[in-house]
Amino acid sequence: MLDRPLHPMVVHFPIALYLLGVLFTLGTLRQHRDDYERFAGWAFLLAWISGLVAALVGVVDQGTLDPNDPRRGPINNHITAGIAFLILSGLVVYVRIRWPDPLRSSRRSLYLALMAAGVIVLIVAGWLGGELVYGLKVGIE
Ligand code: HEM
Repeated sequence: MLDRPLHPMVVHFPIALYLLGVLFTLGTLRQHRDDYERFAGWAFLLAWISGLVAALVGVVDQGTLDPNDPRRGPINNHITAGIAFLILSGLVVYVRIRWPDPLRSSRRSLYLALMAAGVIVLIVAGWLGGELVYGLKVGIE
């Protein structure tokens, strides 16, 4: 195994892929192009899968800390935001499977609300993760 945290190497994938899905969705809202809509679907699915991988690797990294490390509190706040992201991005994928072409379906508002909530928790999770590394030196000291 590498002697350094693995989670920071993979977290960029869910962040970039989810935001890409949102961009393609905004593109679809401006001009309804089927290829934008399809790309959004793939981006959200890959964001969810890579988010799951990031979370599993994060659990491994967290396991290297002393059980009494006082930074475990802030880490738990980050994990809460990370799990909220996995739930919301998973629901975005679910809505797409259940109601194909969601922007034209009866669940359009629900779909857009879930997507927007996913952006907010993604920003919170990323911010709290950055605080762990650059503020509290988790994975460094
Ligand atoms: C749910 C399980 C998760 C756990 C247990 C976890 C744990 C951790 C830990 C321990 C760190 C400190 C660096 C390290 O030692 O690896 C960290 C940093 C970070 N995490 Fe998570 N995390 C989880 C989910 C997520 C998710 C879903 C995201 C975003 C999609 C995320 C984004 C970040 C970011 C951006 C950093 C800062 C990395 C850097 O700037 O180097 N985490 N996380």
